[in-house]
Amino acid sequence: MNPSLFFLPFPLLFIFNLASACNLADQNALLAFKSAITADPSGILTSWKSGVDCCTWAGVTCSIPNRVTSLSLYGQLDRPNAFLSGTISASLSNLPYLDGIYLVNLRNISGPFPTSLFKLPKLLFVYIENNKLSGQLPAAIGNMSQLEALSLEGNRFTGPIPSSISKLTRLTQLKLGSNLLTGSIPIGIQQLKSLTFLSLERNRFTGPVPDFWGSFPELRILRLSHNKLTGKIPRSISALAPKLNYLELGHNSITGNIPEFLGNFRALDTLDLSSNFISGVVPKSFRNLTKIFNLDLSRNSLVDPFPELLVKGIESLDLSYNKFHLGKIPKWVTSSPIIYSLKLAKCGIKMKLDDWKPSETYFYDYIDLSENEIWSSPVNLLNRTDYLVGFWGAGNKLNFKLQDLRIVKRLKYLDLSRNLVSGKVPGGVVGLEKLNVSYNHLCGRLPATKVPAASFLGNDCLCGAPLPSCK
Ligand SMILES: *[C@@H]1O[C@H](CO)[C@@H](O)[C@H](O)[C@H]1NC(C)=O
Ligand SMILES: *[C@@H]1O[C@H](CO)[C@@H](O)[C@H](O)[C@H]1NC(C)=O
Ligand SMILES: *[C@@H]1O[C@H](CO)[C@@H](O)[C@H](O)[C@H]1NC(C)=O
Ligand SMILES: *[C@@H]1O[C@H](CO)[C@@H](O)[C@H](O)[C@H]1NC(C)=O
Ligand SMILES: *[C@@H]1O[C@H](CO)[C@@H](O)[C@H](O)[C@H]1NC(C)=O
Repeated sequence: MNPSLFFLPFPLLFIFNLASACNLADQNALLAFKSAITADPSGILTSWKSGVDCCTWAGVTCSIPNRVTSLSLYGQLDRPNAFLSGTISASLSNLPYLDGIYLVNLRNISGPFPTSLFKLPKLLFVYIENNKLSGQLPAAIGNMSQLEALSLEGNRFTGPIPSSISKLTRLTQLKLGSNLLTGSIPIGIQQLKSLTFLSLERNRFTGPVPDFWGSFPELRILRLSHNKLTGKIPRSISALAPKLNYLELGHNSITGNIPEFLGNFRALDTLDLSSNFISGVVPKSFRNLTKIFNLDLSRNSLVDPFPELLVKGIESLDLSYNKFHLGKIPKWVTSSPIIYSLKLAKCGIKMKLDDWKPSETYFYDYIDLSENEIWSSPVNLLNRTDYLVGFWGAGNKLNFKLQDLRIVKRLKYLDLSRNLVSGKVPGGVVGLEKLNVSYNHLCGRLPATKVPAASFLGNDCLCGAPLPSCK
């Protein structure tokens, strides 16, 4: 201790202590972290300066006096400059009191998994999401056996999940989605009995959907979509029925039928089985899915009859591209007060669109009724959907004048190709990102759009760029 301190009166000594709040070793570890950051265009780390108490630096928390306990740096995905480049310095291992590290949406942090974290016995929460970390996950990842949450979502990790993952038995969250991981889902994951949230979606996992779901009494969210998983929906998934809110198995190569027991999932909010090879009927037990808000069964080989659901309201429904012949848009859909996305492409619907009177249209963002036998006009419907973003009606018998269609400001996608639409293309379409009115009976000069010629082909007498000029 500096001998001159002995001569300071008590209040001054107190102020001196406050001014030196940050532990010097912690400060040096953080400055070394900063020096491995090579670009910080939005100034996320501007407040990190020696001489300033490091407990006051942006993203740094000291909850034990003087010692750094958490580091949370967040980029902003909607601000192009709010990112960091560089690597994660091994100096983090010199923050012995660290219990949480959150490096989220920084986008351009690269390098391997920071094994320096293995030296932090108090570390409980690791969220390194939406960066560019790469290489394999370390075989010794099970070293961090005290961890309660591990998220490496949105990086570029390759190779398999190490089998030592089975030692992370305190995890309540394991999120490895949106990486390039391969191999099968390791059986050792069944040791993680406290998991409430497991997401492995958007990787390249192969092999069957594991059949160990009896081990997860607390699981609320299970995301396995967008992999290459095979086999049937396993029997043991039924053990998750009391608590599971999200079950996402879409975009895999799953075969077999939808098991009857899925109807017992009373707490289910979201079920995604889309883009698999599932066949057979949707079980009658689905009537009991009274809390389902998001149901996506699209792009399978499901057949009639589709059960009448007892939901109070559905938010999004996609039954497209199966082998259904629904005839009409189901009543429980039409009466939903909260629906924002309805996709019933190629569902065997034969109806006059003017006869469809949804009880609430306020929330509609997306409507896809392509490839059915729907006639008359969407003019009245689109006159009621103030916030519509996309309307797809290709391959029907819609018969109306295009200039009568109200094109709201928010509309970005409009596909009316292969119908009986007549009249002319109105100037209102110029704001659309995607437009397709090919193969109709339109005529007249086109307004100036950025849309390719293919979107206008096959009409009676359209002219002007990108088609040949008008005579
Ligand atoms: C992202 O990081 C890489 C490697 O550090 C660097 O070469 C590149 O310039 C960075 N990108 C941006 C936009 O700064
Ligand atoms: C984890 O790794 C660190 C450093 O590599 C080592 O000191 C520690 O003993 C290991 N802990 C466990 C539980 O394996
Ligand atoms: C819905 O659940 C009830 C009570 O568990 C059960 O008796 C009934 O059979 C179920 N309905 C269907 C259609 O499976
Ligand atoms: C569209 O709705 C407005 C009122 O909201 C109404 O005045 C108008 O007649 C409607 N247009 C069509 C084509 O139904
Ligand atoms: C427009 O629709 C036609 C017919 O449905 C399709 O063949 C074509 O690829 C579409 N063009 C564009 C640009 O989306």
